[in-house]
Amino acid sequence: MMKPDDFEFVSRLIKSKSGLVLSQDKTYLLESRLMPIARKRGLKDLTELIGALRGGDRNLVEEVVDAMTTNESFFFRDTKPFDQFRHVVLPHMIKARAPKKHLRIWCAAASSGQEPYSLAMILDEFKSQLAGWRIDIIGTDISREILNKARAGLYSQFEVQRGLPIGLLVKYFQKKEDQWQISSDVRSKVQYKEFNLLEDFRPLGQFDVVYCRNVLIYFDQPTKSDVLARISALMPDDGFLFLGGAETVLGISDKFKPLARQRGIYQLNRPGAPDVDLTALEKVQAGAAAGAAAGAAGGAAAGGLAFPKPKHMQTGAGATAGSTARPAVGTTGTATTRPGTATSGTQATQRPLGGTSSTTRPTTGTGTTGSAFSRPSGSTGTGSTTRPGTTGTTGTTGSTYRRPLGTGTGAGAGGTTQRPGTTGSSNTSGSSGTTRPSTTFDRSRFGKPDDKK
Ligand SMILES: C[S@@+](CC[C@H](N)C(=O)[O-])C[C@H]1O[C@@H](n2cnc3c(N)ncnc32)[C@H](O)[C@@H]1O
Repeated sequence: MMKPDDFEFVSRLIKSKSGLVLSQDKTYLLESRLMPIARKRGLKDLTELIGALRGGDRNLVEEVVDAMTTNESFFFRDTKPFDQFRHVVLPHMIKARAPKKHLRIWCAAASSGQEPYSLAMILDEFKSQLAGWRIDIIGTDISREILNKARAGLYSQFEVQRGLPIGLLVKYFQKKEDQWQISSDVRSKVQYKEFNLLEDFRPLGQFDVVYCRNVLIYFDQPTKSDVLARISALMPDDGFLFLGGAETVLGISDKFKPLARQRGIYQLNRPGAPDVDLTALEKVQAGAAAGAAAGAAGGAAAGGLAFPKPKHMQTGAGATAGSTARPAVGTTGTATTRPGTATSGTQATQRPLGGTSSTTRPTTGTGTTGSAFSRPSGSTGTGSTTRPGTTGTTGTTGSTYRRPLGTGTGAGAGGTTQRPGTTGSSNTSGSSGTTRPSTTFDRSRFGKPDDKK
């Protein structure tokens, strides 16, 4: 058990090096993250480790800070920031930057790379309009280790199942043993750099778009204000900032203002900030909402089998605040057809963000519903993700498989995210309802695989 003054020392050290704030109730977390380091270094216990830290072992300090970061991320996290990018930011930038054909995007806490790669995949959709442009996507993070993973672009099956439309998996990823690697083309579009948000940003240059998502939550108020002020200083008047679902500028910084009727996206609070056209975005959002409602209603009518939510998943503000619903069969996007082994029946697996892609593949059944794959979406919030599966069987109900909770999603403040769904194409029962848990509470903020919960 760590002594109070040791906790005090280490938490201060971590805050001064990274901005990460550890409250006293996170003693268990500190211990569980530091013990493996002590063991690896052949130290007897945490007292010895802290002794070495007090002695000023710089490598050890770095290792400890790295161990205390939470690197949770996933593709197209929270959907909205990527729809907003596709339908608002990019159209604006394509016009506004036409004279110089240069766009710079900064993912300020890039973690394992899913965020910058999601942007790179969106940009790839616009490649004909962006021909001849120079697009810089810079992903930075304090953690060297996580940046190595980002550079490798290798993801587990679980990671590619979180938020990545299957059409994009097929298009941009290759199976490498039991992992998936994002194509070298997409990888080459992102530059990674180890960078601490407490450092001077100026050497990074100017950025038109900044994603600083799900990192400010770990900082105290003065650090948040300071980081936001310094980000604003790097941005032109028409720049856009994206924050995580549980992050805001309100009450923290007057350098930015929220974009009307939207969450998570901010403009500079300057006279030069342009009015942007939200029509296309709002249409997509309304379509997703309507589809979700229809999917949910259809699902109920079809009697979709869903196991009751385990108790531990019912906690958190997200219980009522947010859900992600996927409507049956998306209406937009390009369909990828993959041959299958089935002899009859087709099932469209459509799960795209912003309806960018879908996969239609023959299945082994002719069912109208198919088996429902239900997963509580990696989030520790609440709700469930009912994802219709790919092995549709005859019948209107199908089976439901619920995957245990993952490690948590972003800390959305009760937002509702709706995505086109994964349901079978011939789904007359409309059972696709994919209800994702709210992103309100992010257990993963404090979660590394070996943490004792
Ligand atoms: C939860 S991840 C967010 C990843 C991604 N932005 C997203 O929303 O999915 C937070 C990341 O912030 C990084 N981080 C924490 N403190 C930092 C600091 N002072 N400077 C730069 N990165 C930091 C962590 O290493 C971690 O990878």
